[in-house]
Amino acid sequence: MLEKKVQMLEFDQHGDERGRLVIVEGMQDIPFDIKRIFYIYGSDRNVIRGQHANKRTEFVLINVAGTSKVKVKDGKGNEAVFSLNRPHTGIYLPRMIWKDMYDFSCDSVLLCLASEHYDAEEYIRDYDIFMKIVNGECE
Ligand code: TYD
Repeated sequence: MLEKKVQMLEFDQHGDERGRLVIVEGMQDIPFDIKRIFYIYGSDRNVIRGQHANKRTEFVLINVAGTSKVKVKDGKGNEAVFSLNRPHTGIYLPRMIWKDMYDFSCDSVLLCLASEHYDAEEYIRDYDIFMKIVNGECE
């Protein structure tokens, strides 16, 4: 099984003369069962979305059309930027990772697979609080 750290995932493309098909199965191609999907489109280049971390939810983000970027931070000084620019690749985000999604192309459709149902209470939207939690200064 995949390690539960931020990583790019590459899914098989099943192609024939009719086009391409990409399959993402929970606990097989990604390291969780999928309880929720949502997708983001119509965001401009200058928009920054996300800007939160989740206490319980793991995600996989896939630009099924267009492109965007994701910046991840662990709250301990490490950060990385990933480009989502192919419909058969995605990024896996474990719990307690700060994420900013930005630089959306006008045709971007960002598909998000989530391990949990929506619960506003498990979103951390304040970066200072996020840093305090990951550094053990508060719960
Ligand atoms: P938000 O978390 O700001 O979106 P993003 O992380 O993509 O920038 O969510 C926007 C609104 O949608 C907010 O009012 C919460 C609501 N929402 C749900 O009700 N269910 C969901 O699964 C998600 C992702 C958001």
